[in-house]
Amino acid sequence: MEISDYQLKKLRNYLNNEIGIYVDDSKMQTIYKRKLLKLLKEKGYSDFEEFYKDLVLKKSSFLKQDLINVFMVNETYFFREKYQFDTLVKHVLPELHIKRPANEIINILCAPVSSGEELYSIAIMLMEEGELIKKRDFMLLGIDVDSDAIAKAKAGIYSARSVHKLPPELIEKYFVKTGNLYKVKDFLKKAVNFKIVNIMDKYQMKKLGMFDVIFSRNMLIYFDEKSKREVLATFYNILKNDGYLFLGHAERVPSDIVLFKSMKIGDSFVYKKTADS
Ligand SMILES: C[S@@+](CC[C@H](N)C(=O)[O-])C[C@H]1O[C@@H](n2cnc3c(N)ncnc32)[C@H](O)[C@@H]1O
Repeated sequence: MEISDYQLKKLRNYLNNEIGIYVDDSKMQTIYKRKLLKLLKEKGYSDFEEFYKDLVLKKSSFLKQDLINVFMVNETYFFREKYQFDTLVKHVLPELHIKRPANEIINILCAPVSSGEELYSIAIMLMEEGELIKKRDFMLLGIDVDSDAIAKAKAGIYSARSVHKLPPELIEKYFVKTGNLYKVKDFLKKAVNFKIVNIMDKYQMKKLGMFDVIFSRNMLIYFDEKSKREVLATFYNILKNDGYLFLGHAERVPSDIVLFKSMKIGDSFVYKKTADS
């Protein structure tokens, strides 16, 4: 079977519209063409147009999900860019704890969470800090469009590579080692929630509720400018006043977007939604 450059571009535009990612021509013609051919074969298609018709016209949600799972880059690990979690636990959450009414739950969203390591890391940091969770309830939610990644997050079973940045005493405390795998202990699993959500879907995002903190690391770098701006507007809408947005180290809110106030707290650059911003 052959897939032409025109067909690859058609699929690239479809994905761009649906989930925001933009794959450049060279990656499309190499890595993704190979992945796509494999998927089509697995699904029993001998012609790209047949596949595309089912995807777009029949709106097959299974086919769409399989395609999304093939295209996603899920790279993540525990304690990735740990200094941001330090800023969260040492500065941001203590400030929010003082500002929010005593009985209000503090809601933290990881969007995207990939296979869960980022959200479990936040839960571990909170448990290690120890004082805040005695005084305040927290709700930790992780979302991703990749259903395989969310299934892995819910299972909570990781390779040695995933936990390589964790100190041995924390591995001992929060994981059960079976063979080469590390399984998250039940008490940690109970502290987090995961859901399949497309961040580009404004309706689904609004239904999640309002958040005090949003982590969105290492996804917007894969998005085109327009989708990135749409997602930032969505984050603004679901962030409470005085709430904080953390982006990946290579990501920035464009300087002409004045909705967020950027600042350095601890070792991290963060974005704050203020009543006057
Ligand atoms: C490189 S991972 C980043 C994971 C984690 N935040 C980190 O920094 O370690 C990027 C994730 O973005 C997810 N993603 C891409 N587009 C998305 C969308 N439209 N909605 C939700 N998740 C998306 C992918 O499925 C992938 O799991």
